Amino acid sequence: MINVALMGHGVVGSGVAEILLYHRDVLTEKIKEEIRLKYILDLRDFDGLAYAPLFTKRFADILDDPEIRIVVEVMGGVTFAYDYTKACLLAGKSVVTSNKELVAAKGQELLEIAAANNVNFLFEASVGGGIPILRPMAQCLAANTITEVLGILNGTTNFILTKMVAENMSFADALRLAQQNGYAEKDPTADVEGHDACRKLCILAALAFGQHVYPAQVETTGITGISRTDVDYADRFNAVVKLIGRARRLPDGHVTAAVYPALISRAHILANVNDVFNAILVHGDCVGDVLFYGRGAGKMPTASAVVADVLDCAKHLTARKYLYWAEGAPDFVVPATISETRLYVRASCDDPTAAAKAASDAFGEELFTIRDNAAREIAFLTPTGTEGVLRETLAALPCLRDPVVYHVID
Ligand code: HSE
Repeated sequence: MINVALMGHGVVGSGVAEILLYHRDVLTEKIKEEIRLKYILDLRDFDGLAYAPLFTKRFADILDDPEIRIVVEVMGGVTFAYDYTKACLLAGKSVVTSNKELVAAKGQELLEIAAANNVNFLFEASVGGGIPILRPMAQCLAANTITEVLGILNGTTNFILTKMVAENMSFADALRLAQQNGYAEKDPTADVEGHDACRKLCILAALAFGQHVYPAQVETTGITGISRTDVDYADRFNAVVKLIGRARRLPDGHVTAAVYPALISRAHILANVNDVFNAILVHGDCVGDVLFYGRGAGKMPTASAVVADVLDCAKHLTARKYLYWAEGAPDFVVPATISETRLYVRASCDDPTAAAKAASDAFGEELFTIRDNAAREIAFLTPTGTEGVLRETLAALPCLRDPVVYHVID
C-alpha cells in the first residue's frame, strides 16, 4: 500500500480527493498496488464531508509520517507551497503539484532537490489542465530539438473571449461564469492579465529549451485592453482574437518568450480552440508540428493529470529522470522584438484614404486596409518582418494616431 497526503482542498484538491477515494479500485487495478489517501491538509473545516476524518491542520502530521511516500501540493501560491514542497522532498517524499506559480518560480531548484533525494517532483497538471503535455514533450519528443512552442494556455481567458464573441456576453458576465465553473484563479487578475499563461509558458520553455525561464523574463500582456472594435475588425480580416503564449529558440541558442493577445487567422488550427479548451503546438526539428488539445482548466480535468502523476510516483518511488532543466540566466531570454512576425494595426487618422496610401508606401507593398471614414480610422495587417522594424516603420507614420497593435498568426 502506498500512502498519499493531499495539501489543499480547493477546486483541484477536492477533485483529487474524490478520484483517489472513489476510483480507488480502478487505480489499484492499474498499478497493482493500493493507493491510500491518508491526510488532507487544509486550514478550513469540511465537517459535512464523508471523508472529514482525513483532514488535518498540521503540516507536521504529513512531514513526520514515514508512511507518506507521495504528497500532492494543490494549495497554490509560492510561500507555503515552496516551503512544504521542499521539506517533503528533503524528507524523501515525492511531490506532485498543479501549482504553475511554484514551478515557474522554483521549478529548477525543486527538481534538483528531488533528484538529490532520489524522489520525484512531477507537475503535469501545471500546464494545460488535463492535457498530457509535459511528459509527452520530455519523453515522446526527446529525439527533437524543439524550436517553438505556441499555445492557448489559459482556459479562463479563452472562455471569456469565446463567450464575448460567440454569445455577445459582457466581459464581467463571462468572467463570473468562468469563476462559477472553477476555471479562474483565486485572484482572476492572474488570468486576465496574462500572468497565469506566462507561468505556463515559462514551464514549457524551460522544458523545451533546457534552461529555467522566469516570469519576469517574459513580456506579458493580458486581455483587459481588448475592445469589441478590434474583435470586429479581426472578424473582417477573417481572424479571431486569442491570448497566446509563444516561445522560440533562435539559431544562436537564445530564446524569445512572450504572452499577448493575437489575431489568429481562421485557417490556423488554433483559431478553433474555444471555451475552456487549451491547445499547445510544439515544433520539433524531426517531428514537425505536434498539437496537444484538451480542457485547460477545471476541477476534474486538472485532478485527472494530478492523479496520473501520483500513479507514476507510486510505480516509480525513486527518481524518474526525464524531467530536468538547468538554471536560468539573465541573458538567456532576449526581447521578442527581434523575431519575425506580422502586425495588425488600427489607428485614428484625419484622412483614411491618405493614411492607407502612406502605410502602403512605408511598408513597401499595397496593403489591404479597412477604412472607416465616419470614425476616421483605418485598420490593416503589415507584411511579415522583424517586429522591431515593423514598429519603427509604424512610429514613423505621424498620420496614424494612437495605433492599437496586435500580433497576427497566419
Ligand atoms: N486559471 C487557470 C486557467 C487554471 O484558466 O487556465 C488552470 O491552470
